[in-house]
Amino acid sequence: DVLPKGVKALMDNGLVTIPGRYIKPPSHRAVKHLIVPGVEIPVIDMAALESDQEKFVQTLCKASSEWGIFQVINHGIPVATMQGMVYGVLELFDLPIEEKMKYYTEEVFVPVRYCTSMTPSQETHMEWHDHFQHYFSNTEKEHPWPEKPACYRRLASSYVSSVRHLSQTLMSALSEGLGLDSNCLAKSFGDSEMILRSNYYPPCPNPDLALGMNGHTDSGGLTILFEDQVGGLQARKGDLWYDLKPIKNAFIVNIADQLEVLSNGKYKSIEHRVLVQPDQTRLSIVAFCNPSRDAVIGPLPELIDEQNPDLYKGRMLHSSILALPLLSSFSAHVRGTAA
Ligand code: SIN
Ligand code: FE2
Repeated sequence: DVLPKGVKALMDNGLVTIPGRYIKPPSHRAVKHLIVPGVEIPVIDMAALESDQEKFVQTLCKASSEWGIFQVINHGIPVATMQGMVYGVLELFDLPIEEKMKYYTEEVFVPVRYCTSMTPSQETHMEWHDHFQHYFSNTEKEHPWPEKPACYRRLASSYVSSVRHLSQTLMSALSEGLGLDSNCLAKSFGDSEMILRSNYYPPCPNPDLALGMNGHTDSGGLTILFEDQVGGLQARKGDLWYDLKPIKNAFIVNIADQLEVLSNGKYKSIEHRVLVQPDQTRLSIVAFCNPSRDAVIGPLPELIDEQNPDLYKGRMLHSSILALPLLSSFSAHVRGTAA
């Protein structure tokens, strides 16, 4: 039985019930009574960076320690850049399926990847989304963008440089939040890399049986996510899942595994997942700002002493984690509790 070319294509062809391979086992489904529909997840006003930098660093540090996920407003990226990117990405997903399939691959380190779910050939239960992904190595000069749609190269390049700049600003403040020089996290990342991933979640005929994305922590450094107003992203604390309520033109930022390690556990890489909707398409555009693939990541030496031992002894190397087939549940590897 052939693997689908994408859930958008399934829905465009008039699907009314989800195929069995999208049905999650009951233990993996979202359970309503464990969901907190709230506003607990921090919102950080980046205008404070100008008015009171110390306070801004404190706020960021608190959100990264208590939650590891937060939204940022007044981040300085023009709305036109964000909306332009959304337009370009929607045009990309609207290309005929034959055009998209030219980029179909399960490889991660390629300039353009189109795929559905995460690693379809290895999954028993697939995720309800399609995505385009770009890997930017730290050595490339010119990125080979898809040729169609014609507007995409310009819109995506501009988006990437804006988001890169935002990530640098946040990384400096996060370094200071550890009581260290503003460039210390960037230095540990080496020549940083980026993966840009656009996720397309079509309406799902049986939203309670499927998930847009399984619970996972991000394996890289810092994740900067832009979403539309549909909602569905949730973060887990203990047994409870918290809705991230979309804020127009905000970014959602989350600490990923390698930043948790560098901070020796002060900053938390939180588990998150995505629910699907019965009647709406959701789009998210996610920039993974990652250390160089060659970087050997461990807790910053300045943070380790007799009272503060290395909490990540025996962890897997960043480069080995990246080579694993699935993005899900890395925490165990990072914390050194897995083989
Ligand atoms: C992700 O976790 O990589 C994507 C989450 C989202 O689509 O909001
Ligand atoms: Fe993620």
